[in-house]
Amino acid sequence: MMQVLLLLAFLAIMSGVGTTQAQVFTPTDDILLSCGSSANVTVDDGRVFVPDNSSSSNTLLTAPQGTTVVGSTVQNNANLDYPNLVSSARFFTEKSSYTFKVSSGRHWVRLYFYPFPSGNFTPNASFFSLSANQFTLLNNFSCVAFSSFDKPLVFREYLINVTSPTLVLSFSPQPNSYAFINALEVVSMPSNLLTDDATLVGQQAPQTLGLPGIALQTMYRINVGGASVSPQNDSQGLYRSWEPDSNYIFAAATGAVGSVQFSLIKYGNDPTYIAPPAVYATARTLGGSQTVTLSYNISWVFPVDLGYTYFVRLHFCEIIDSAINQRVFNVYINNQTVLSNFDVIAVVGNPDVVLYEDFAAPMFTGPDANLWVQMGPAPSATVKDAILNGLEVFKMNNSAGGLSGPNPSVTLSSPSTVVAPTGGGSKQNLGVIIGVVVGGVAAVVVLAAFIYYCCSRKPKLAKKPTPPMWLPLPLHGSSSDTSRGMTHSHKSGKSGAGSYVSSVPSNMGRFFTFAELQEATNNFDESLLLGVGGFGKVYKGEIDDGSKVAVKRGNPQSEQGLAEFQTEIEMLSKLRHRHLVSLIGYCDDSKEMILVYDYMSKGPLRSHLYGTKLPNLSWKQRLEICIGAARGLHYLHTGAAQSIIHRDVKTTNILLDENFVAKVADFGLSKTGPSLEQTHVSTAVKGSFGYLDPEYFRRQQLTEKSDVYSFGVVLMEVLCARPAINPALPREQVNMAEWALKWQKMGMLDQIKDTRLAGACNPESLRKFGDIAEKCLAEQGIDRPPMGDVLWNLEYALQLQESSSENFAGTSEGTDALLDNASMDNTFSANDSLSQPGYPQPRANQSVEPSLTFSTEHSLGVSEGTGSEDASAGDIFSQLVHPEGR
Ligand SMILES: *[C@@H]1O[C@H](CO)[C@@H](O)[C@H](O)[C@H]1NC(C)=O
Ligand SMILES: *[C@@H]1O[C@H](CO)[C@@H](O)[C@H](O)[C@H]1NC(C)=O
Ligand SMILES: *[C@@H]1O[C@H](CO)[C@@H](O)[C@H](O)[C@H]1NC(C)=O
Ligand SMILES: *[C@@H]1O[C@H](CO)[C@@H](O)[C@H](O)[C@H]1NC(C)=O
Ligand SMILES: *[C@@H]1O[C@H](CO)[C@@H](O)[C@H](O)[C@H]1NC(C)=O
Ligand SMILES: *[C@@H]1O[C@H](CO)[C@@H](O)[C@H](O)[C@H]1NC(C)=O
Ligand SMILES: *[C@@H]1O[C@H](CO)[C@@H](O)[C@H](O)[C@H]1NC(C)=O
Ligand SMILES: *[C@@H]1O[C@H](CO)[C@@H](O)[C@H](O)[C@H]1NC(C)=O
Ligand SMILES: *[C@@H]1O[C@H](CO)[C@@H](O)[C@H](O)[C@H]1NC(C)=O
Repeated sequence: MMQVLLLLAFLAIMSGVGTTQAQVFTPTDDILLSCGSSANVTVDDGRVFVPDNSSSSNTLLTAPQGTTVVGSTVQNNANLDYPNLVSSARFFTEKSSYTFKVSSGRHWVRLYFYPFPSGNFTPNASFFSLSANQFTLLNNFSCVAFSSFDKPLVFREYLINVTSPTLVLSFSPQPNSYAFINALEVVSMPSNLLTDDATLVGQQAPQTLGLPGIALQTMYRINVGGASVSPQNDSQGLYRSWEPDSNYIFAAATGAVGSVQFSLIKYGNDPTYIAPPAVYATARTLGGSQTVTLSYNISWVFPVDLGYTYFVRLHFCEIIDSAINQRVFNVYINNQTVLSNFDVIAVVGNPDVVLYEDFAAPMFTGPDANLWVQMGPAPSATVKDAILNGLEVFKMNNSAGGLSGPNPSVTLSSPSTVVAPTGGGSKQNLGVIIGVVVGGVAAVVVLAAFIYYCCSRKPKLAKKPTPPMWLPLPLHGSSSDTSRGMTHSHKSGKSGAGSYVSSVPSNMGRFFTFAELQEATNNFDESLLLGVGGFGKVYKGEIDDGSKVAVKRGNPQSEQGLAEFQTEIEMLSKLRHRHLVSLIGYCDDSKEMILVYDYMSKGPLRSHLYGTKLPNLSWKQRLEICIGAARGLHYLHTGAAQSIIHRDVKTTNILLDENFVAKVADFGLSKTGPSLEQTHVSTAVKGSFGYLDPEYFRRQQLTEKSDVYSFGVVLMEVLCARPAINPALPREQVNMAEWALKWQKMGMLDQIKDTRLAGACNPESLRKFGDIAEKCLAEQGIDRPPMGDVLWNLEYALQLQESSSENFAGTSEGTDALLDNASMDNTFSANDSLSQPGYPQPRANQSVEPSLTFSTEHSLGVSEGTGSEDASAGDIFSQLVHPEGR
């Protein structure tokens, strides 16, 4: 047993070591020529191209006397790659050749053509053929037909196994025409990059293709779901370039993209140069777990030339899920199943391990010259998803040893225009997804708390100079606040209204008689009901001059209610802050427990996010609301002599006034925080499911960081516009924090953002926001930032949004920014993956114990409830009903 464990540990360590070591490939032959230039040319990636006439032992240029000249041009097209390399060219008017003395084995032959006029040479007059030993690479090639303003450089890459001592590249211009070339490379390739077995499309088992004798041309090399990878950033020494897949996606189903840190990628037995980590670390999926109910394909379409067989290599790496059976899918090439019930982890055993599969697709006839690659969930799969990280398409020589294709007609522009535009695709997807989410939420009755709006008081408040918001205000409020109602407070003492009086702090605001509040609420008219919670009912009322208030009437039979009543009064009477709901007064007459609050006319934040028909909040508004709430919480934590932990931070406890200023409400569960010598308060777990700090839950120790966690959930809820717990969703989505964190860690949080934010939301700001939320949701309280930091970061996110809002036109995918982000900050630490070898951990494992994930968003710790099964009743104490919502 011990030995097995040791072996496992050893293997874990070995695989860990294996990941970090990149194999550097040193080519035997490395001939880089800048044709027609008089000096060495160093390109951006550091490689040096030498002039093609430099005396060199391995290169020989042969041309009939006087038939080759050189030319150069001045470059001013910003779209031109390698401008300094291709601004010179060699022109041939007769058959001419370069002979390279090379070792045997497969070589890259890379050709750079940039058509520019020089002397009598006009590009549209150039037609020529090019062969490499027995293979015809180009035939009657018109370079200008392939060149466009957007992509002026015509680049060709071939993979040729050289079996003779020399490789001869021969240029044959058509009569009265000319051939030319700007630069070329002949470089040895690793011999194990192509193995001679691939599955022929339409057949079941892999078979040998005879690859050693076949020359290939690279048609497409795609970093699926990622950005382009420059030759410099390809695996060491291979200098391939990878392009994004977005131009090749067919129709609107673009799925979702994601990424992990490059260093996570493990190569197993494959050489690290199979494809760079940048390719494996990004992927496209059907949309992750969001699309669980949908079955659709993502399709890529690649225009090719008919008459050839194509070698298709698919690169897979499961960077998102961690266990087998989570993503079982089919892959189709040209509408034929080539992989069925494919499960990447089932094949390689672990997440983040690379895998590639090779196929050969004959394309001799067909409705059109398009190669289709599609993936979609296996019909039997429980989770509807699929993943692809990279894709390469090579053309294989035909029986005549040819690889050439026809010239495009002049009207045809770049090949990618054949493919349907992809813009808006992900939006459409998300539309469906959010539709599902909102549908699930519709049943949730959303509602609101204590409220008040005092006409006489408001102008005064507005004019009061406000100190910087995160600075603590003096306790007990300003003099104007405390003066109000002091006499009433005294009166309350005189009224001798039962046992509660002693519990009520003496400085706590206005005392109302029961009769006053009966009048204010039309004798607690049910039509004025704003909400129902565990504590009791909340009514809208009007006092004195017609000022609107929210009147919360406790259930006198409830012991719990009494405790909360006292806590609330105690807390609120000590606190005055622009971002805390103000207590106006109370009534403890006739064994009643009634609290009177500011009326917050816009109701709870939640009702502006989902489940109602209220207008959408913009990203800026959402940020401002989050900032307001963060200020309120920061004040609670730091503003008083002893910090106060709210303990029930959630979107129904953040109320909005008529100007959308956020105020934190409901202090019924609040506790004063640890004093200096304590680090935490031990207490029975209270709070609301979905918002509950997992650490608090496990250890029953309360710190301010528990509020920070809950606030992190609020941030995600603001972004994703769905309930913290939605049991109607598939299991892995039920807990929003867990789900959103998973997306955030993949750098794909933007994929699950509220669709109604699309376009209006600056990606940098969103990224910042995601980072803060992620930090708030850290598993350990100690890793979570204090509210002051959260506040500062949110303000920074707002600045990013504001500074961009003038010019920001919205990006179609906004993922590039998130991709960098993922590579920088998404540290699934090595510990994560090594902690339990062979038993991959879910990436986001901060969830509340699953057995406790109740069917709705119940609050804990309060036995009282209205008994109703709907969520409004489950949310204790302070349900708010948006007044306009009724
Ligand atoms: C190569 O060609 C350049 C440009 O025509 C010329 O300046 C140079 O002298 C040539 N070098 C050799 C070694 O022939
Ligand atoms: C050009 O580059 C080659 C290879 O890097 C080097 O050997 C040679 O010295 C360089 N020539 C000049 C003139 O810099
Ligand atoms: C070739 O291009 C030049 C200038 O771009 C144009 O004047 C000429 O007519 C073209 N010739 C042909 C045969 O298309
Ligand atoms: C070469 O291609 C051009 C059009 O791209 C065509 O007009 C011409 O006839 C071709 N020449 C030969 C010899 O096939
Ligand atoms: C190149 O061809 C030779 C002869 O057919 C063969 O032995 C060798 O394995 C091939 N090399 C590669 C990398 O395919
Ligand atoms: C290569 O990657 C690094 C870091 O990943 C990036 O900063 C750099 O811009 C990339 N270079 C190119 C030419 O893409
Ligand atoms: C595959 O199916 C698509 C649409 O379903 C069609 O447009 C395409 O022509 C088909 N491809 C082949 C090679 O049959
Ligand atoms: C996915 O594509 C394959 C091959 O074209 C097709 O047979 C299958 O029906 C498609 N699945 C869906 C859900 O569209
Ligand atoms: C590729 O070209 C070689 C050399 O001309 C030839 O022997 C071989 O049969 C060709 N391959 C195919 C698949 O036609």
